[in-house]
Formats: sequence, structure tokens, C-alpha cells
Amino acid sequence: MQIRQPIVAVLGHVDSGKTSLLDRIRGTGVQGREAGGITQHIGASFLPTETIKETCGPLYKKLEQSENKVPGILVIDTPGHEVFTNLRSRGGSAADIAVLVVDVNRGFQPQTNESLKILQSRKVPFVVALNKCDQISGWRKSETSFISQAIKEQDASIQADLDQKIYDVVGTLSVLGYQSEAFYRVKDFKSEIAIVPISARSGVGIPELLSVLVGLTQQYLQKRLSQEEKDPRGIVLEVKDEVGLGQTANIILIDGSIKKEDSIVVAKRDGVIVTKPKALLLPKALDEMRDPRDKFKPTPQVDAAAGLKIASPELEGVLPGSTLYVARNDDEVTKYTNLIESEMKSMFVDTETNGIILKCDTIGSLEAIVEMLRRSQVPVAKADIGPVNRRDVIEAKAIKEKDRHLGIVLAFNVKVLPDAKEESEISHIKIFEDKVIYSLIDNYNAWVEEDTA
Ligand code: GTP
Ligand code: MG
Ligand code: NA
Repeated sequence: MQIRQPIVAVLGHVDSGKTSLLDRIRGTGVQGREAGGITQHIGASFLPTETIKETCGPLYKKLEQSENKVPGILVIDTPGHEVFTNLRSRGGSAADIAVLVVDVNRGFQPQTNESLKILQSRKVPFVVALNKCDQISGWRKSETSFISQAIKEQDASIQADLDQKIYDVVGTLSVLGYQSEAFYRVKDFKSEIAIVPISARSGVGIPELLSVLVGLTQQYLQKRLSQEEKDPRGIVLEVKDEVGLGQTANIILIDGSIKKEDSIVVAKRDGVIVTKPKALLLPKALDEMRDPRDKFKPTPQVDAAAGLKIASPELEGVLPGSTLYVARNDDEVTKYTNLIESEMKSMFVDTETNGIILKCDTIGSLEAIVEMLRRSQVPVAKADIGPVNRRDVIEAKAIKEKDRHLGIVLAFNVKVLPDAKEESEISHIKIFEDKVIYSLIDNYNAWVEEDTA
């Protein structure tokens, strides 16, 4: 079967080594050029088959025999300080599979848990990369790039130490409902999460990590990656004004293809726009979209899966995280306009019922939080993007008169405007602010519980 490139998201806590891992595979130095060594924006780069083959070495032989050979991989680097919620797709994920990077000496950290919750709610399969093995105290450097071999070359006490660290991860994952094992002990890759010890610094373990990832993709994701009867669509990652190009959008094309003469249908906060791209720009293979070594190349057509830049003056105000459709005639324009409108309607909540008020930074976080609130049976009266304003607090005040636990505001990664703050103090309306989704919800639930007790 002909399948497209899988979209692989790399997630994990700040400084766990996500960008370093990709740098190592690509032979790039993106991490070293980041301000403060911190990834600020979601990135994308394309790994061609040749790179996978070189990285996996002899392990590639088995992968090559598959009937569903992947034609490369599109890897997505995510900022550790922010969840990858905008990598959304019709309530699910644009990522087909993920690598959850965990620092071997630190284990699970807040953002690891956050990433995992999102993977869980969007049903994304994943592999754990247990990174920084070279930093295990007493670890002996070896020549091999295969972790299974490198482990054998360690002292018995170091082997036991690594095993303990692996079992800590197994234990944490089991509490969250996942079965997992070191990849060399996994019997059934469908039911057990594979843990691959690696070092982004020395490169050890990366051949195994990549071959587990590609193996899983080829075995279990054919249907998702098949291009038969798939409408062309993508996701907007970022919209910005660029020198010489004007308004641009970085997008991930998930399925199908975009041609320069096609119309693009996409959402703004107050409606849908239809625009023809002035240019389609493609980064070179192995180049990180947010820090390319070479210029993006203008191209007449792009096929999924790919990260690309679209230039068009009408893109200003387009929402990051919104789905992008490709229309080839008027009927398709109408069809996709309706689709986006109904998608937006179901996402932004504005009802007369009693519920909390939620303000978020992006539609991705909004969607994820509304979903989590629904699951913990917290009703939502209003959910929107933007700062908390005075009207939000006044609405919460009206709700508080009917239900004091619902008359509050949840603010995720947005400002609270001064007049809103003032009003909240006068009216005693609580505003919960947070940059971590689950602690936002946990803090609210804890407050309700405390107030009820
Ligand atoms: P954010 O994007 O800021 O969330 O971080 P990140 O997960 O991309 O981590 P990054 O690649 O920036 O690495 C953080 C630090 O850890 C850097 O100083 C890296 O050099 C270091 N580092 C990453 N991987 C390894 C590793 O395998 N071994 C050692 N010793 N250091 C590593
Ligand atoms: Mg990074
Ligand atoms: Na970092």
C-alpha cells in the first residue's frame, strides 16, 4: 500500500533533549542557536528515507521488507514550556505517532505528564526515549551506536541502575493505565509502550529508537497514512509577517496535496477566509522550518505530509491551530466553509447555562481544556480565546449567584486585564491562572473540594 510520511511529534519536559535528539538525527545545530537554549515555537523538518536508512544501519533491512514502507518522516519539535495542543485535527491529533522524551536522571516531570495527558486524550500511540544515558553516574562510553550493545559493556551495577530507572518509568506509566517495557523486552508492540534508552549527545540508542518508531508506523498505521479517499487538509501552526513575503502561515499539510492555483479555506476568529496563495514555500530536507540553513524554495505543488510556508496578504488574523482545507472549485469552497464554521461553533462555547468561564491562548488549548472539563463533569458557560476582560468577570458574578462553585474564571496562558482584576476583587470572583493545563483543572477542583468540605 502507498502510504504518506508519518507526522511524528517529539514531546517532553523542558530541557529533556527534544531538539538535541533531532539535531543529532539531522546533523544540525538548531539547539545551540536557540535563545537560552529554549525552543519557543513548534518546528518541523523532513527526514528522507536515506537519513532513516543511515541512522538505523543494519536494522533498516527488516524495515525495508515491509509492504508499507514509509517514504520518510515529518518530525515536529515542540516547545517544552507549552503543550502541543495546537497540533490538533478535528478533535484528534495531527501527529500520527509521538516520541515522549524523558530525562533518565529526572524521570517524569510536570510537562511529561502534561504531554502524556494530551496523547491519551487524542489517542496518539507513542514511544518513550529515555534520554541522557551518558549522564548516568559511572556510565562507560563505548564505540557502538546500539544501546543494546552499549548496555552489555556497562558494569553490572550500572546495568542494574538503568534497569531501576526503566522500572520507575514502567511504574509511573502503569498508574496512568499504560503497560510498558524496555524495547528489548517488549513482546507485543500493540499493547506495550516501548522504552528506548538513548543519548542525544553520543547518539547511542538512536538507531533502535528510529527503527522501533518506523516499525510501529509500518505495522499499525497503514490505514491512517493511506492517501486513498483523503481530502487535502492541514493545520496552521503560526501566522506572522515576514520581510519580503508579507503575511505568512507555517502549516503542516496532513493529507493530500496543495497546488499554487488552489484556494485555501481557513478560520479567523470572526469567520472563514478563502485565499489563493501568493507562494508555496518548502524548506529543504533535514532543515528545521524555524531555523533553516537554506532558503525556502518556491514550489508549484506540495504533497502530504509536509511542513510548508504559505504567503498571502489575507492570512492576517488566521488562528493558529485551525484546520486548513484545500478547495479546487466553488462547491468545495462552500463545503469547507461550512465545515470550518461548524467546527468553530462546536469549539467556542457561549451558552446561557450555568458553568465556568474559560479563556485560553489558542484554539488547541481551548479544545483540550474543554474536553478535560467535560470529562470531569464541570459545565462550561463560555469558552473563548483572548485575555480575561471585565465582562467575563461580570458574567461569572451572575453565575455565582446561582452556583458559587461555577462562578469563576479559568485563564490559561492569557492576561487578566486590569479592569477585570479590579472587578474580580470587588466582586470576590476567583480567577484561576495557569500555564499547565492539568494544574489549572486540579487547582480548581481542589478549591471546590475544599470549599465543599
Ligand atoms: P526545550 O525545547 O527548551 O524544552 O528543551 P529540549 O527538550 O529541546 O532540550 P534541549 O535539546 O534544548 O537540551 C537541553 C540541554 O540538555 C542542552 O544543554 C543539551 O545539550 C543537553 N542534552 C540533551 N540531550 C543530552 C544527552 O543525551 N546527554 C547530555 N549529557 N546532555 C544532553
Ligand atoms: Mg527544544
Ligand atoms: Na532546551
